[in-house]
Amino acid sequence: MKVLVVHASRHGGTKGIAERIGEVLQKEGLETSVTGTHDANWVIGFDAFVVGSGVYMGHWLGEGIEFLQQNQMTLSQHPVWLFSSGPLRGSSKEGPASDPLDNALGPTEGPGSGGRKQLEALIAAIGPREHKVFYGAYDPSDPPKVFSERIVRWMPAARDVLPPGDFRDWDEIEAWARGIAAELARTKTPVGGA
Ligand SMILES: Cc1cc2nc3c(=O)[nH]c(=O)nc-3n(C[C@H](O)[C@H](O)[C@H](O)COP(=O)(O)O)c2cc1C
Repeated sequence: MKVLVVHASRHGGTKGIAERIGEVLQKEGLETSVTGTHDANWVIGFDAFVVGSGVYMGHWLGEGIEFLQQNQMTLSQHPVWLFSSGPLRGSSKEGPASDPLDNALGPTEGPGSGGRKQLEALIAAIGPREHKVFYGAYDPSDPPKVFSERIVRWMPAARDVLPPGDFRDWDEIEAWARGIAAELARTKTPVGGA
């Protein structure tokens, strides 16, 4: 069984999560490749997919959305797991209900729901086994990569919204990956390439 783990990552936090998932899957006996979206044009020959993106202003990164769009047909025919990374622990954006999806991607309706709706339309088309939200990482000394990020970081409230630190929960990430391996092991025969 061959698994492709794909990451859309602006500052490397999501890439790190994808790499750790890949290590666990490999250790569990699955032939696993880990790659960025730009190197993942060739999805043929994989039996299962794990796809994750960093979240910025309530949206998956464009390259992550494009990967799902471009490979929607193939993904819909195979077991797929999605993950978003992700809220920064202690951010003022963490709502009182602390629903991980709300914290990461915003509400399902109304103002601020655009990124979530965009992703949920793709989720409806692809039918992933799960969409998991992991805490992310933010290092303010790593310069912004796009103009909008520069603006957000300059905002007076930035310190409350974006607490610096690495909040990735490796135990949770590894446990999730082991769960994927267990579920794939129950799939007796490989689904086959696209
Ligand atoms: C400008 C900025 C905006 C962010 N907006 C969100 C957001 O809307 N929701 C969220 O869950 N995390 C948000 N984050 C946190 C990132 O998703 C988190 O740092 C993630 O780990 C980044 O992944 P990457 O390093 O792979 O790009 C934001 C971070 C920055 C710097």
